[in-house]
Amino acid sequence: MTQIIVSSGRPLTGACSVPGDKSISHRAVMFGAIAEGDTHIRNFLDGGDCRSTVAVMRALGVQIDVITPTELIVHGRGLDGLQEPTDVLDCGNSGTTIRLLTGLLVGQSFTSFLNGTAQIRRRPMGRIVRPLRGMGADIMGRQNGEYAPLGVRPARLRGIDYTMPVASAQVKSCLLLAGLYAHGLTLVTEPGPARDHTERMLMAMGAPIQRYGDKVSSERPRSPLKPLDLTVPGDMSSAAFLLAAAAITPGSHITIRGVGVNPTRTGIVDALMEMGASIVFENQREEGGEPVADLVVKTSALRGATFGGQQIVTMIDELPILAVAATQAEGRTVVRDAHELRVKETDRIATTVSELRKLGARIEPTADGFIIDGPTPLVGAPVESHDDHRLAMAMTVAGLVARGQTVVHGAQVTADSFPGFEVTLQALGADLTVEP
Ligand code: S3P
Repeated sequence: MTQIIVSSGRPLTGACSVPGDKSISHRAVMFGAIAEGDTHIRNFLDGGDCRSTVAVMRALGVQIDVITPTELIVHGRGLDGLQEPTDVLDCGNSGTTIRLLTGLLVGQSFTSFLNGTAQIRRRPMGRIVRPLRGMGADIMGRQNGEYAPLGVRPARLRGIDYTMPVASAQVKSCLLLAGLYAHGLTLVTEPGPARDHTERMLMAMGAPIQRYGDKVSSERPRSPLKPLDLTVPGDMSSAAFLLAAAAITPGSHITIRGVGVNPTRTGIVDALMEMGASIVFENQREEGGEPVADLVVKTSALRGATFGGQQIVTMIDELPILAVAATQAEGRTVVRDAHELRVKETDRIATTVSELRKLGARIEPTADGFIIDGPTPLVGAPVESHDDHRLAMAMTVAGLVARGQTVVHGAQVTADSFPGFEVTLQALGADLTVEP
């Protein structure tokens, strides 16, 4: 167990980058495994969650060469080349791994079992199991498939026309992957714009994926999937901590280079700008089918705002850090329609509220979000990560503006998605140390 000790008073200045995007890194390894030929991945996220994906794909017979921790070569085995694993597939703490992988495994000719940490076994799997069963998949799981461990047996799949009750990129991706192995068309309708990295990447590989407004379809490819050579953009969800940190830490001015700015991921930028933050996109370009930019952010006076509806899915992982920024904004900030926060790594409504209150924040939980009144002068205190990477980083940023010292316990978890978070903040000038 490590702890981050952070104090206020120093501005953040200079330039930095953030590690590769978590969602894209998972997909590059999984999809590369079913391509025919070698997929070359640069700027791969060497974090705990993506390591779980590498481990499970290896257990399925895929050779993955680690050239450096962030550069991999995945030797694709083709759509039907995965092999029966000899043990339970350990998805660790990673929801993306277990949900996408289940979609891939239901169409295989062998049996497999998927499990993960206690945290993963508490997260809902019925949202993928029910539509997959509707496609003819043979899946078992605890409580009739509501929770992992999951077991998957070979089955003949048929396409499905499915409207997702909640906007979820993991559910959408799971079904599109199963659709590659099904007879007929799989059509998924999404109630909000969930991240579209699966569609972009599979299309770039030549898979028959099509978009029609809020619908995406997939079907069995007629020719092998082409391997990719890609550089993963920096993760917007990691950059969000630095954006908020610079926006609220007096006297700051930083540049974050090479961040993925796919419009399904930039809700936090829009939200912070709506609150008055100064964020400029420079050097906009495209890498591997994804838009990328350098982000320049300066400290600004923030004001409260209300967020809900379709914007929520485009910043679902960023709501804990948005709450931190809102404590420093003038007036009331309301986040609604964010029920999904209840089923993330932790119940992020409960954990964000409990930890921010320890620093003196005025924050009230609601059924589907929170209400924050500001600005509040925060006061340093010991806080807990609850083994949730995004909460640990949000609380560290809160510590940058809290008088005195904030100690974030259980901070090793930041490496799930942002290895180097602490050194990046130190290099920008933050008063921060890490203790074992
Ligand atoms: C992800 C989708 C989102 C997000 C998660 C990563 C993905 O989850 O919260 O961190 O890579 O597809 P949901 O699909 O459950 O909303």
